[in-house]
Amino acid sequence: MITISFANNKGGSGKSTSCSNLAAALSYLGRRVLLIDGDMQMNLTLSFFGEDEVLGFAAEEENLCTALAAGEDLRHRIRSTADPNIDIIASTYAMSGIESGLTALREPGKALERGLRGIKREAAYDYVLIDAPPTLGLWVKNILAASDRVIIPAEASPWGLFGLANLLDFIENSGTASARPELLGVLVTKVDERKNYYRQTMETLKGLETLPVFRTVIHVDSAVEWAQDNSTTVVSYRRSSRSAREYLDFAKEVEEKCR
Ligand SMILES: Nc1ncnc2c1ncn2[C@@H]1O[C@H](COP(=O)(O)OP(=O)(O)O)[C@@H](O)[C@H]1O
Ligand SMILES: [Mg+2]
Repeated sequence: MITISFANNKGGSGKSTSCSNLAAALSYLGRRVLLIDGDMQMNLTLSFFGEDEVLGFAAEEENLCTALAAGEDLRHRIRSTADPNIDIIASTYAMSGIESGLTALREPGKALERGLRGIKREAAYDYVLIDAPPTLGLWVKNILAASDRVIIPAEASPWGLFGLANLLDFIENSGTASARPELLGVLVTKVDERKNYYRQTMETLKGLETLPVFRTVIHVDSAVEWAQDNSTTVVSYRRSSRSAREYLDFAKEVEEKCR
């Protein structure tokens, strides 16, 4: 079982879209996936459930936030989705207060790792995918500490790579040498070929020689938004669309790199 997180403190870079679609693509390839929605915006949860259901989860008294603050085993927070290969630990508005909940713990940086131990032991999943919020604090430290690998989605736009060095430093300093996630790669998202800017982004990334970058890029595609409007992923909604095919290629690349 491999745990992969999606991190970038820049919002709108495609973390939630890529996390949900990687799950759907891996499921299509026959893999079992557990998703963890680490963002109070609940976008990952909204990719698998309708708004009313998500609001219901958000109102529950026992949730991801209370479980982490109490040091509970997160197995009790898992729910099924309509896809038999994908389960999820949903987010909640209460996650806005997670940082203070964590500070009170004996090992504030390890709450998520501890909560996932039972799940790791059972190994019922091939992948655990974690969607991080657009911040760099104690909670994202927890997410990185619980991850074997990390993927950085970055938007092909003038500000898409701004702050990347800072993010890489944060990942580098997120744990000890033996317990630091390996950067699987930067995934370039929302590529618009009509804008020349895409080439500039790729050139900049190529210039950062040691930085792994995924071969697959994800183009801007309105099918992504229609899928989200229908509480699903583009991979399940319209498998023939350009972005769905790209996310399937991305999943194959992830599998190659994790082997
Ligand atoms: N390939 C794409 N084509 C069109 N819109 C996209 C694409 N990827 C993401 N988006 C849109 O961009 C916005 C930000 O994406 P999201 O995955 O929520 O980023 P993050 O989780 O990093 O904040 C969302 O509104 C989403 O619908
Ligand atoms: Mg998000």
